[in-house]
Amino acid sequence: MTILVTGGAGFIGSNFVLDWLKASDEPVINLDKLTYAGNMDNLASLEGNPAHRFVQADICDADALKRIFASDDIRAVVHFAAESHVDRSIHGPEAFLDTNVTGTFRLLEAARHAWGPNAASDGRRFIHVSTDEVYGSLDRDAPAFSETNTYEPNSPYSASKAAADHFARAYHHTYGLPVIITNCSNNYGPYHFPEKLIPLVIHRALKGEPLPIYGDGTQIRDWLYVGDHCSAIRRVLEAGRLGEKYNIGGFNEKTNIEVVRTICALLDERRPRSDGQSYASQITHVRDRPGHDKRYAIDATKIATELNWQPAETFDTGIARTVDWYLANQGWVDRVTSGAYKNWLEKQYA
Ligand code: NAD
Ligand code: TYD
Repeated sequence: MTILVTGGAGFIGSNFVLDWLKASDEPVINLDKLTYAGNMDNLASLEGNPAHRFVQADICDADALKRIFASDDIRAVVHFAAESHVDRSIHGPEAFLDTNVTGTFRLLEAARHAWGPNAASDGRRFIHVSTDEVYGSLDRDAPAFSETNTYEPNSPYSASKAAADHFARAYHHTYGLPVIITNCSNNYGPYHFPEKLIPLVIHRALKGEPLPIYGDGTQIRDWLYVGDHCSAIRRVLEAGRLGEKYNIGGFNEKTNIEVVRTICALLDERRPRSDGQSYASQITHVRDRPGHDKRYAIDATKIATELNWQPAETFDTGIARTVDWYLANQGWVDRVTSGAYKNWLEKQYA
């Protein structure tokens, strides 16, 4: 049998596919539209590997999905494909509605029709990969998000993910589709597109450019190394209970300014600036993001106790690995930041 991964040329999806094929013989069909965020370079090490089949298609294309389910015996869907950047959702929300809501709906429909009413007992699984941002923003001393928190999405991105979560949940409740939802905190690691905070800061620091901190930089995120997110999803696929949701987090709450200063300190050690100054001197405070969520934090007790999952990396070990990966893979960074990337920087940071 085969697993169908959507969005497997993006940041988390490509890490998942690479990790999966290291540990399993079960083949992967990797369906991705190859938007600006999808990059075949991420999958270069799989060239010629018969266990990996890439299909360029849009999850909104019902016929393309139908063909895949008809041609292969899909045991599980792991659904990553999405528009994923909050700032882009503020500039242009419609693509988020199309891919994240309509696309997820089409994928649920394709699985429902192909698998029929006995999908659960046949061992099928539909893992819907979502975010902690659906829960909204926390006050500084509020308890972390648990699976029972209400949904209060604040950005067009998080609203579209919340809508998709509701469809996924409803397809389990109404049709018995064997859905499990995961809600994860901010990921970081290899192949992260340099529009998100951590890879953007590494990239701009090395180019001698300003490091833009939105507002005062005291906003808090929980950070999880991408390999730990992938191991959590594998665990949920193996043993998660149908119809449940699992929060996934790294127990690493950091302010944005702390994260940026940590990256600067690592770069100061590994690639000192020629003028002897710290990269931290490039930090610049810029206009805040509209509707910027103050704090996210994840209570990952459920996945820890039920599924015995723990992250392997701390923030210190994960961020050091990440900085080292970017230093060793500047060719990848150059390739993904050529072309349309420059238009985005103009729009967002001009
Ligand atoms: P990403 O933007 O790096 O990758 C998204 C991938 O989806 C790209 O390869 C893109 O080409 C593909 N895609 C976009 N629209 C598509 C469409 N219509 N049809 C087919 N493919 C399409 O995103 P990511 O950071 O890897 O996130 C993956 C998933 O994980 C998303 O669902 C996101 O909401 C979720 N998530 C991300 C984070 C994070 O910190 N990055 C945290 C929690 C959850
Ligand atoms: P980001 O990586 O875009 O993830 P998300 O918005 O999904 O949490 O941003 C992480 C945090 O960093 C968020 O609070 C916004 C902030 N940020 C900046 O301060 N400057 C930037 O240039 C970017 C991209 C983000």
